[in-house]
Amino acid sequence: MASQLTDAFARKFYYLRLSITDVCNFRCTYCLPDGYKPGGVNNNGFLSVDEIRRVTRAFSAMGTEKVRLTGGEPSLRRDFPDIIAAVHENASIRQIAVTTNGYRLARDVALWRDAGLTAINVSVDSLDARQFHAITGQDKFRQVMDGIDAAFAAGFAKVKVNTVLMRDVNHHQLDTFLAWIKSRPIQLRFIELMETGEGSELFRNHHISGMVLRDALLKRGWIHQLRQRSDGPAQVFCHPDYMGEIGLIMPYEKDFCASCNRLRVSSTGKLHLCLFGDGGVNLRDLMQADVQQTMLEQRIAVALTHKKQTHFLHDGNTGITQNLSYIGG
Ligand code: GTP
Ligand code: 5AD
Ligand code: SF4
Repeated sequence: MASQLTDAFARKFYYLRLSITDVCNFRCTYCLPDGYKPGGVNNNGFLSVDEIRRVTRAFSAMGTEKVRLTGGEPSLRRDFPDIIAAVHENASIRQIAVTTNGYRLARDVALWRDAGLTAINVSVDSLDARQFHAITGQDKFRQVMDGIDAAFAAGFAKVKVNTVLMRDVNHHQLDTFLAWIKSRPIQLRFIELMETGEGSELFRNHHISGMVLRDALLKRGWIHQLRQRSDGPAQVFCHPDYMGEIGLIMPYEKDFCASCNRLRVSSTGKLHLCLFGDGGVNLRDLMQADVQQTMLEQRIAVALTHKKQTHFLHDGNTGITQNLSYIGG
């Protein structure tokens, strides 16, 4: 029943973000500046393919139509194609997406497509190879660019690119990014830097409002599109001379959460109602056998009644999440 995934503020949650690992091989300055350190995960490890099959079946029975696989870096799991296939077994899940750092794209994208993947978001914070290396800790700019080309070659009509906006790092490079998407079907989304527990100094030094880019885009003739359900919290801009689009994700703007359309499950099976400030509700004990599905659905429905209206980042809630690699951004 689709109505089961509606909260007290009439928001509908047809979109599930499922983190499948905390492990990442990049060390982005805003996320894992010292790289991934094992230790946070108990003996059970990350969710298994069977657990993923069961939890996505429960969500799909409750109205979920889109699942995004996140991490850490989801494609580091050897069973990644099996995970995609397990989610794909649910006929009502029409979109299966991944958010990736692009490291394995060129090698594996056709495998992922064959398993049922329908959409790809890739992180690219700079179009300068040296700066890309400095931000991510990996000298893989060319490999990631080749990966994006491979995604187009494999039949993905459009790719989304995530660029975390940082003052004095990339905020003045708008024209370089615009030139890049002039004849490429890319939706490039600038994401405002969010303050995490481990990233408060970076935040103090480099946070800048996405409104600066909004003004620059409008000045250059870009048009703010009417919001579509698939946009989620992004504001989307287009221009008649450009094949690509620009999206702005500005979590510090008023009303950002009014269009929230997603729930999150962590790589160890906790349901998070928001990226910030909730400890999560354990679902994993109800992912152990098919007969538990009704109980699992009930626990999800009860948890959803507690979803708050906003992330309250303006009220001192900022920084409460240590980094975004555990919940998957
Ligand atoms: P689509 O499904 O294609 O619309 O993309 P998406 O924006 O939902 O997914 P993606 O993983 O590409 O998200 C990019 C980044 O945007 C995330 O890693 C977060 O940093 C940020 N973001 C996404 N959803 C939220 C949200 O609900 N709240 C906040 N504060 N940030 C979010
Ligand atoms: N601020 C904004 N976005 C972040 N991400 C991770 N950490 C942060 C942060 N502190 C997002 C980026 C990246 C995705 C995997 O996670 O969008 O593309
Ligand atoms: Fe890895 Fe993504 Fe975090 Fe970068 S932002 S360290 S690619 S999980």
